[in-house]
Amino acid sequence: MKIAVLPGDGIGPEVTREALRVLDALSLPGLTLFEGDVGGVAYRRHGHPLPDETLAMARQADAVLFGAVGDPSCDTLEAHLRPEQAVLGLRKDLDLFANLRPAKAFEGLEDLSALRPEIAGAIDLVIVRELTGDVYFGEKARGQTEDGRREGWDRMAYAEDEVRRIAHTAFRAAGTRRGKVTSVDKANVLETSRLWREVVEEVAAEYPDISLEHMYVDNAAMQLVRDPGAFDVVLTGNLFGDILSDQASMCVGSIGLLASASLGERQTEYGTFGLYEPIHGSAPDIAGKGIANPMATILSAAMMLRHSFGREDDAARIERAVAAALADGLRGGDLGGSDNCEAIGTAVCQRL
Ligand code: NAD
Ligand code: IPM
Ligand code: MN
Repeated sequence: MKIAVLPGDGIGPEVTREALRVLDALSLPGLTLFEGDVGGVAYRRHGHPLPDETLAMARQADAVLFGAVGDPSCDTLEAHLRPEQAVLGLRKDLDLFANLRPAKAFEGLEDLSALRPEIAGAIDLVIVRELTGDVYFGEKARGQTEDGRREGWDRMAYAEDEVRRIAHTAFRAAGTRRGKVTSVDKANVLETSRLWREVVEEVAAEYPDISLEHMYVDNAAMQLVRDPGAFDVVLTGNLFGDILSDQASMCVGSIGLLASASLGERQTEYGTFGLYEPIHGSAPDIAGKGIANPMATILSAAMMLRHSFGREDDAARIERAVAAALADGLRGGDLGGSDNCEAIGTAVCQRL
């Protein structure tokens, strides 16, 4: 079972280290780790945020464990050399179109959510975010208008097959949960969204036991803080899913808690090939201080065991250990506490 470990920039290496300690504590037989450079660190060492060797390593692995990329000193580089290009490039190259971002309340954290405890305690949803299309990957350009004003543009587009396959992912997920899909779009304004709705309706016809509602993204942002417990599976595009998932993290308690799996169709000997990463970024403001919360990355490693290695029991064991650490009062700075990154990793290992 080959895992390509790509720690990346900022707090990426700090949180990845703790996730690896947790995997190590499980003493799984047959795990082989390969480590590669990605992001700003790769740009500095190899002149590119996603070097060929890193891409090759990811391709030959059974799963990728990813920290975070992003470095303020790279913000003025040409677009294709920016660290963020690495994660976008991996998602596209590996055809990881389905991004699962679960958000579930943890016992004991209700008072730390940005919402009132009785509202926060009910949250149990998964955002199914399309990950390889939308305005993220449309043609981009800088130029000038006819009358000489500077202009920038990004093409937003979805083709029907792109919508269809992510819709299937969402309906199948709903079948294993509470049977409800909320498709989030902006069909009152955007043509891409009107196509999205049409195709989602077609797919829904194949899942008579799943209920489907459509919601405009602005309303969804509001409903997510008004009554997050009403959502089960949130099906949405790349850009809206990015924004709503950061918002959902604060409903649970912190961005340091939300994990993700990015999956495609490729099957390996052990399960579905995937890339696993926390939803947060490289957090330059706290990088190097050892105070990042590694739980999102630890929970991403659990998702890896579940989806890529068929080890549901080990995945659940990690998730229970994280929940137990939180229930026992472990709190990173993101949750108003003072437990550091390593202490949180140790606490999770002890509770396995
Ligand atoms: P961010 O998620 O890195 O940080 C936002 C805020 O949350 C910061 O105050 C940070 O300190 C805090 N935070 C994030 N993760 C935390 C953790 N585990 N523990 C404690 N606090 C945490 O978002 P940003 O500041 O907008 O972006 C910083 C860089 O990261 C940018 O270059 C951005 O492009 C990049 N980014 C990368 C990814 C990725 O690699 N997948 C995701 C998001 C952002
Ligand atoms: C995320 C990040 C990325 C995204 C960036 C770094 C390209 O914000 O994984 O949520 O927008 O998808
Ligand atoms: Mn994001």
